[in-house]
Amino acid sequence: MKDILEAPFLKEICKTASNMYRQGWDERNGGNISVRLDKKDLAPYLNVRDVIRTIPTKFDAKAIAGQYYIVTGTGKYFKNVEDDPETNLGIFRISDSGTEAELLWGYKDGGRFTSELPAHLMSHIARQAVDPESRVIIHTHPTNTISMNTVCPVDEDDFTHRLWQINTEAIVVFPDGVGMLPWMVCGTTAIGEATAEKMKKYRIVIWTNHGIYGAGKDLDETFGLIETVEKTAQIYMLTEGHKRLNLITDKQLKDIADYFGVTPKAGILK
Ligand code: 13P
Ligand code: ZN
Repeated sequence: MKDILEAPFLKEICKTASNMYRQGWDERNGGNISVRLDKKDLAPYLNVRDVIRTIPTKFDAKAIAGQYYIVTGTGKYFKNVEDDPETNLGIFRISDSGTEAELLWGYKDGGRFTSELPAHLMSHIARQAVDPESRVIIHTHPTNTISMNTVCPVDEDDFTHRLWQINTEAIVVFPDGVGMLPWMVCGTTAIGEATAEKMKKYRIVIWTNHGIYGAGKDLDETFGLIETVEKTAQIYMLTEGHKRLNLITDKQLKDIADYFGVTPKAGILK
């Protein structure tokens, strides 16, 4: 068996956790990452028949039974993931019943997957139905996006428009807009179901006064998507309280969309 610490998928999730920490998005144990893996990518590093222990998922994940995931642990600090992956990460398979995670590696200190697993796995189910290539869900606490929640209405079309108007790149990177949930208790099956419902339409879902969920094909794409939303939110917050003299008009937004060949979410541009 090859050394799993050398596996490209492991190095990449470690690097992503460190980058997110350095962005200031993931204080303490804030945020969590899940990546769907292929059995063939795991096979050189693990015997997938060797289950260390099983952990109840506490909801029905039968739709993705047999799938493999690498997921950050609950209570674990992103700043520590890279130095000690085996404690801060776990690799598991969803059992045939869909009610257990079969741990194959990690959570070395007896830990378990993130408390946000329902929102992650339900989002994976929703995104795979839209795009079979979808592999990554990232949840994080980006400062400016959360700051916008304190000064903007909880209205996803209005929020999307505010972002598009302030940064040219925004409509190109997320023409589908951002989905939004009102404030809810986190970690619950209910917020998981609400997030997954939004994920049928959006790759970004904002949890009011909490953070963001992003979905994508790989870690780079998903990180880049969140990074663009957060950068745009930063511009919004830096200009909040100032007279905004130059906003991108709806006509200009349509011109950008036409030039880049993207279709903006209907009903936002006048
Ligand atoms: P976990 O430590 O359980 O991953 O939770 C962090 C978090 O961001 C909760 O929303
Ligand atoms: Zn959170």
